[in-house]
Amino acid sequence: QATSISADRVPDMGKRQLMNLLLLGAVSLPTATMLVPYAAFFVPPGSGGSGTGTVAKDALGNDVLASAWVKTHGPGDRTLTQGLKGDPTYLVVEDNKTIATYGINGVCTHLGCVVPWNSAEKKFVCPCHGSQYNSQGRVVRGPAPLSLALAHVDIDDDKVIFVPWVETDFRTGEEPWWA
Ligand code: FES
Repeated sequence: QATSISADRVPDMGKRQLMNLLLLGAVSLPTATMLVPYAAFFVPPGSGGSGTGTVAKDALGNDVLASAWVKTHGPGDRTLTQGLKGDPTYLVVEDNKTIATYGINGVCTHLGCVVPWNSAEKKFVCPCHGSQYNSQGRVVRGPAPLSLALAHVDIDDDKVIFVPWVETDFRTGEEPWWA
């Protein structure tokens, strides 16, 4: 994971020095986990970064704009966008036609298939082995062991931005397994 930090995004640090840091990180997990937010801080604006956030992209790769999204996606809609780390992430439109403050990671917690939304049953149903998740992504049938991961959704200047969810999972009251 740490090797995905590209050296050219870290202008203040020589590549060799960064490589050394990464090598250190390989033997020292705490170093690696500290390096991630450090590097994320340097992601330049315009490439999807506002702090650790990522602008949601639609199926065509365009930034998702909240005002346009709710015109074409009605209440109850769940549509996949590209989220944090490129993960397919559902944007949720609430009954009051606003975008929900949470997004649902579409990657099944069983073996990683992308789970489609079944609007008739109001559930996410995995085509691979039949796991089911409720409308908020909480697991309701195995073999999936865990609920779908969450991301915060912020709206900044009409852009829809995903931010890592590190707080308690509001669906289960448990610590997030994905953070
Ligand atoms: Fe979804 Fe197995 S990958 S149920």
